[in-house]
Amino acid sequence: MQSCDVVILGAGAAGMYCAIEAGRRGRRVLVIDHAQAAGEKIRISGGGKCNFTNLGIAPDRFLSQNPRFALSALKRFTARDFIARLDAAGLGWQERSLGQLFLTGPATQLVAHLAADMARAGVEMWLGCGLGAVRREGAGFVVETQRGPVWAASVVVATGGKSIPLMGATGYGYGVAESFGLRLVETRPALVPLTFAAQDLAVLKPLAGIAVAGRATVGKVGFDEAVLFTHRGLSGPAILQISSYFREGDTIRLDLARGREVAAELRALRGQAGRIALRTALAQMLPEKLARHIEALSGVTGTLADQSNVVLDRVAALVQDWHLKPVGSEGYRTAEVTLGGVNTDDLDSRSMEARAVPGLYFIGEVVDVTGWLGGYNFQWAWSSGWAAGQAA
Ligand code: FDA
Repeated sequence: MQSCDVVILGAGAAGMYCAIEAGRRGRRVLVIDHAQAAGEKIRISGGGKCNFTNLGIAPDRFLSQNPRFALSALKRFTARDFIARLDAAGLGWQERSLGQLFLTGPATQLVAHLAADMARAGVEMWLGCGLGAVRREGAGFVVETQRGPVWAASVVVATGGKSIPLMGATGYGYGVAESFGLRLVETRPALVPLTFAAQDLAVLKPLAGIAVAGRATVGKVGFDEAVLFTHRGLSGPAILQISSYFREGDTIRLDLARGREVAAELRALRGQAGRIALRTALAQMLPEKLARHIEALSGVTGTLADQSNVVLDRVAALVQDWHLKPVGSEGYRTAEVTLGGVNTDDLDSRSMEARAVPGLYFIGEVVDVTGWLGGYNFQWAWSSGWAAGQAA
């Protein structure tokens, strides 16, 4: 039987990073993945430029039953640490809005760099190799694989979540966790476009393609980012962000003219140019197509001068406090991440080791730690992978 010190299940961001660290410590490391290539999500992320971290890493940017769990790993291997590695490798990066850091070159360069670091650290990798059950044997574990059983002193589960099955996501890691008695936090798709019932969709669909600098709110949580109308409903960063907080039955509120005082502006315009149509006034604050649509939705006819304060306030509410009730989301098919996962109460926050199963580790998206959009999820993958790489 093939044997090694550490077998890492999953060659994504977390698994690759963990492999480099464990290999550098002199551990004999084998990484196994059923995909034909390592780091596929890194390759396609951030429009091919990988939003690899964020300068605003803080516990409130992560969702988890225990949001403080992630802190230890995030503090021990920080965004600055990752940047230093990119700099040392000569990989260029740039800051875009909201502290988001992207590569300047293609994300494939980062994947190649990680693979080269793994090779330098002596890590062996089996791609295109399916995984079966994991069981305890002696002082370690046996992992069933398509290439036969593998014995290892430590097993690191880095198989990610359920998001985008077409890219190889399986939820395999949750099964391993359960088979060793670890608890799971219910999983659901996150960072995902929201979907609507037919009558709402009929209202939204004609606006497909329009993007505005908006604010989307659900309950007390709101995000100031772009809102994008699509043929299926709503998307764009603001919507993806609130999708992590949205639950069926919730109402979301949209401000489509963030930073403006639409009611006050309409009243002022009525005084200065009362003979213009409502849509003309709204077009000073919104894309013209959206302005016409809001006018139609409001049912208002005539000029601005014809409208009372009550009517103008009602129109302003449509622009800045539009209430919508999504029926759900597009699901794992398009979700960037999976909420929930291996319960952090069952893991050691310093090493990611299962408290009740010495030698078994869980890192990355399979754990109940989910970041906001904007590089937070990759930083969690690097940090948790690094932490387990020091211990496994
Ligand atoms: P990841 O999913 O990366 O890796 C898991 C690996 O396990 C895969 O290689 C898979 O093939 C393998 N695997 C799964 N099941 C298996 C099985 N049964 N047998 C064998 N192997 C198995 N985040 C961010 O911070 N910035 C960004 O720009 C983006 N952009 C982005 C775009 C898109 C389209 C998606 C889908 C996601 C993002 N993300 C992101 C999220 C980010 O990709 C994600 O958080 C990390 O890839 C998670 O890393 P992991 O290593 O945990 O899982």
